[in-house]
Amino acid sequence: MNKITIIRPDDWHLHLRDEGYMQAVLPDTARRFARAIVMPNLKPPVTTTALALQYRDRIRAALPPDSSFEPLMTLYLTDNTQPAEIIKARQSGAVYAIKYYPAGATTNSDLGVTDLGKCRGVLEAMEACAMPLLVHGEVTDPAVDIYDRERVFLERVLAPLIERYSRLRVVAEHITTREAVDFVSAAPLRVAATITAHHLLLNRNALFAGGIRPHHYCLPVLKREQHRQALTAAAISGSPKFFLGTDSAPHAQHTKETGCGCAGIYTAHAGIELYAEAFDQAGALDRLEGFASHYGADFYGLPRNQDRITLVRESWPVPDKLPYARDSLVPFRASGHVAWKIE
Ligand code: NCD
Ligand code: ZN
Repeated sequence: MNKITIIRPDDWHLHLRDEGYMQAVLPDTARRFARAIVMPNLKPPVTTTALALQYRDRIRAALPPDSSFEPLMTLYLTDNTQPAEIIKARQSGAVYAIKYYPAGATTNSDLGVTDLGKCRGVLEAMEACAMPLLVHGEVTDPAVDIYDRERVFLERVLAPLIERYSRLRVVAEHITTREAVDFVSAAPLRVAATITAHHLLLNRNALFAGGIRPHHYCLPVLKREQHRQALTAAAISGSPKFFLGTDSAPHAQHTKETGCGCAGIYTAHAGIELYAEAFDQAGALDRLEGFASHYGADFYGLPRNQDRITLVRESWPVPDKLPYARDSLVPFRASGHVAWKIE
């Protein structure tokens, strides 16, 4: 197959940042995706509906005039989030999920949750109004090896959470391991997962190919080849529990190429094309539409998009860097090629 037409996809996990940075990256996503779940880990984080509405206004104001892209907002859960805020969020019609970062797990997560036990009222309110919880699934215990943090999280946190809150809708975000695939597959239908393109295309060798590769560093960190294969099998399985979330996470070049570089990979410039590559490599292009354009919308209870995009097998060069407000940004595949293109 050299060409495929699919319903326009959505991105169910996206970092847009703010101000000039957001203005620099937003067109890449808006050109490809109809909607995106926008992560709330700004500085300061988007912890209230009022802040989410203001952030949404800034995103909308930055869109090209002819764009119909729709940002779907999220709130950043803290130890102090109140159940009333969940109800406000639901009533706003603008907030589609609540994001749970274990404190210290990733970029701008220092104000995240220290103990889910402090969030009981909030989680009950979320169950009552069917507000999904989006989970960054890694323990922060420094005694746990970084490559095991997701697996241990499943046992220590996610399994008890799902058990205790028997109606809570949960998305395990950017899963990276075979264990997470197995966990989500075996869980009730109210539990789903997003998978990034970079975790489908790379294994952890890519972090050290000929030298240390800061632009392949993200969290959760890339894993062994067997895990990449398990993620691919899940993505192409046709199971509605697995859907597209790029986790495109821009950082200025100088903040990644430094003694202690930031976690995050920028993929929005080829946000759907990279998935086409991964599905093509797996011989499963016919499964791309479900994963990219159906299952996420279905999980969130939103209508599927109406219009379509066409992808063609045509290699195109990725620049060595992209403008990023007053900085620059090194995109995924910088100075390399992407094998599929939007027609
Ligand atoms: C994300 C970021 O930069 O905001 N980084 C990343 O490595 N994925 C945060 C996150 O999703 O963990
Ligand atoms: Zn993310």
